[in-house]
Amino acid sequence: MAYQNIQVSREGQIVTITVNRPKALNALNSATLRELLQAVREAAESSRALILTGAGDKAFVAGADISEMAPMTPWTAREFSELGHVLTAMLEDIPCATIAAVNGYALGGGLELAVACDMIYASDNAKVGFPEVTLGITPGFGGTQRLVRLVGKLRAKEIIFTGDMVDAKQALEIGLVNAVLPRGELMAHCRKVAEKIATRGPLAVARAKRLVERGYDIPLRAANRQEAETFALLFDTQDRAEGMRAFLEKRPAKFRGK
Ligand code: CAA
Repeated sequence: MAYQNIQVSREGQIVTITVNRPKALNALNSATLRELLQAVREAAESSRALILTGAGDKAFVAGADISEMAPMTPWTAREFSELGHVLTAMLEDIPCATIAAVNGYALGGGLELAVACDMIYASDNAKVGFPEVTLGITPGFGGTQRLVRLVGKLRAKEIIFTGDMVDAKQALEIGLVNAVLPRGELMAHCRKVAEKIATRGPLAVARAKRLVERGYDIPLRAANRQEAETFALLFDTQDRAEGMRAFLEKRPAKFRGK
């Protein structure tokens, strides 16, 4: 499919999706959200890891598109919010690992995309935050719920209520990003992590992702029962046999996702 607002590239098992509206600091309008949905769906079917980033030097994504939101009614705003929710939920639901390469501003909907990813790496010039209250609205793509799960209530409320930006160093300190890299090294680092994940057992990574995501919202005992079931089920796979055989034979495993 030809895209107008994003670029999609593939290197082996790794797909990179770049939001490509640099003149608007990669702001997310509904056309871009729809393209992202399509590209993420396709990547999920054909890759082991997905890297999400923004075009240009300044921004990952500077939020939902304010010029598109300005004339919205409550009804169209709700539809817009739900579209963002479908995309962020899809990032959590797909079996491949998702990595946000935050190369500048990740604000509002941009930070919401990042916190829906499995890992977040930021460049040293990155600035993240939820400026929605400065516009008289709340975050609308799951930010209030995912941020609190990552950094806890006190930090989340401070970020959301003030609308202040947090720089890369502070974001690392509060556990909002996995690591901070010099700008020029960000993409190489993300690719290295993605490549490493792509060598691991595909079913194991996919199931581990599901256990973490689904287990978060249910009681610990129930989540642990799911873990035990998944652990047992994986013993029936060729990948499990290969992984353990390879260890005992002191060679790298060749996983087939079966
Ligand atoms: N929507 C639409 N356009 C945007 C945008 C956005 N979120 N962010 C930046 N732009 C546009 C600007 O309007 C400007 O366009 P023009 O050149 O045509 O005027 C261009 O991108 C460059 O931006 P600036 O000139 O403002 O760049 P700057 O370096 O001075 O400032 C910035 C950068 C601090 C990120 C500033 O652009 C900014 O504050 N942007 C808005 C951030 C924001 O409020 N995001 C949250 C949106 S609400 C949301 O996301 C809701 C939700 O949860 C779903």
